[in-house]
Amino acid sequence: MAVYDVAGKVAVVSGGGSGIGAACALTLARSGAKVAVADVQIDAARAVVSAIGDAGGDAHALEADVADPTSVVNMVQATIERFGALDVGVNNAGIGGDHALTGDYPLDSWRSVMSVNLDGVFYCTRAEIGAMRANGGGSIVNMASVLGAVGWPESVAYVAAKHGVVGLTKSAAIEHAADGIRVNAVGPGFINTPLIARDLDEGSIALLADLHPQGRIGEAQEVAELVAWLASDAASFATGTYYAIDGGYLAR
Ligand code: NAI
Repeated sequence: MAVYDVAGKVAVVSGGGSGIGAACALTLARSGAKVAVADVQIDAARAVVSAIGDAGGDAHALEADVADPTSVVNMVQATIERFGALDVGVNNAGIGGDHALTGDYPLDSWRSVMSVNLDGVFYCTRAEIGAMRANGGGSIVNMASVLGAVGWPESVAYVAAKHGVVGLTKSAAIEHAADGIRVNAVGPGFINTPLIARDLDEGSIALLADLHPQGRIGEAQEVAELVAWLASDAASFATGTYYAIDGGYLAR
């Protein structure tokens, strides 16, 4: 595992209590960043903060619901109050939603997926830009998916939201390049996290693995490596781009 050039930077990771977000928080902290671990499940955030502390890092747990714009503003303010600035925003919180054909897709599930997966990324990006402008710049990494680039059956809300994340990332990057703010989106293939394990049995996961030319699904740490690079100054010329990290899924 590499160590990235984020020493002394302040990061906030939404959905940092589990899966990919937890791996991002741990990786950024291991590389010397101070990390606010924000999650709607505060106990999960606290457990990640405790693991970071055990590894010698500096982190703080925040309860935040990204679907609530006031909660998001509070999340950014609390990060700055705790650590003095904001340099990195990893907007990762997301949910799967119901599985149904588009013609039958439940309206409440459409709304809740959009609220967390698209509105939430917008609220976070918006609030983080405000803080970063005041601070001379920063790096925002929005968690999309390979399903931000291609379709998938019976998940119309998730696929639409993830495509939306890619679009808002590009627009924000164009607008705020002159402010020294880089904005990128990450598109993981299927990753071994509770999000997948909750929904699928072993047989279904094996079928998913076969869709990736590498013949397996990914690990959260493999996504965190890309996120930490994008957060770091090593990625100084990277903005406005969608980076798939997918074991070859989109290459087929
Ligand atoms: P996960 O379910 O393991 O973790 C998601 C975390 O987000 C949880 O701790 C949860 O409490 C938190 N969260 C949910 N709603 C929230 C809200 N409203 N406000 C704040 N926190 C909230 O999921 P995983 O797999 O780590 O997913 C993280 C991100 O990666 C999501 O955006 C997901 O769509 C994306 N992704 C996941 C893939 C996978 O195969 N696991 C593939 C591609 C993208």
